[in-house]
Amino acid sequence: MGREMKTAPSILACDFLHLQDEMIRAEHAGADWLHCDVMDGVYVPNISFGFDIISKIHSVTNLPLDVHMMTSVPEKYLQVLKDAGAFSVTLHNDVMETGKLIKTLEEIKSLGMKAAVSLKPKVSAEEVEALIPLCSMVLVMTVEPGFGGQKFMEDMLPKISAIRNMAEKTNPTLDIQVDGGIGTGTIGACARAGANVFVVGTASFRAPDMKAALSEMKSIAEQAVL
Ligand code: DX5
Ligand code: ZN
Repeated sequence: MGREMKTAPSILACDFLHLQDEMIRAEHAGADWLHCDVMDGVYVPNISFGFDIISKIHSVTNLPLDVHMMTSVPEKYLQVLKDAGAFSVTLHNDVMETGKLIKTLEEIKSLGMKAAVSLKPKVSAEEVEALIPLCSMVLVMTVEPGFGGQKFMEDMLPKISAIRNMAEKTNPTLDIQVDGGIGTGTIGACARAGANVFVVGTASFRAPDMKAALSEMKSIAEQAVL
């Protein structure tokens, strides 16, 4: 049996004037997780939303909240994230040195959340190889983090394959997530390369029919690995 394919609509692309309705719409459309992008305006050139919003979202949905921390000091907010209802916390590997990163991943797990590491486009698979056994997921950014609606970077595909190969030996159940420019035209190649969790912002919330869009994308991903 193959790996389970999951879609994670990115809240960044929803209509914030109708946040509750949008979360319910995503749940009804068949989203597996909700992807929450926290940006601090320092690590990335944009500011999004914070923990109170995540907590509000948690109060209206049972979907797992997959929190992508694009912030320079994510370790300060682990308990706050737990209290807000986060299911998983993803850290960028280049915000702290490796020893501290390992400690932070352990702390996330000890709080009962899933721990994940994210790689900006310029970070190679080799730079995070040692962390693979400690994570439940690795996020390969397929755009420069900071904004939704950007063009997918095809040259990230070999990195996805490299991480999948590394994980075969040290963590076979690892989820590999891709984030940025994912849609019907790009999801198949990502799945073939070894990704199985797909962040979709523009291609989900901004689609004319979110349910149809999510099921089409999931089926493309499933077909790609048959
Ligand atoms: C970008 C964020 C993404 C973004 C993806 O820094 O990490 O999660 O919302 O948006 P799309 O799917 O529109 O590229
Ligand atoms: Zn993201």
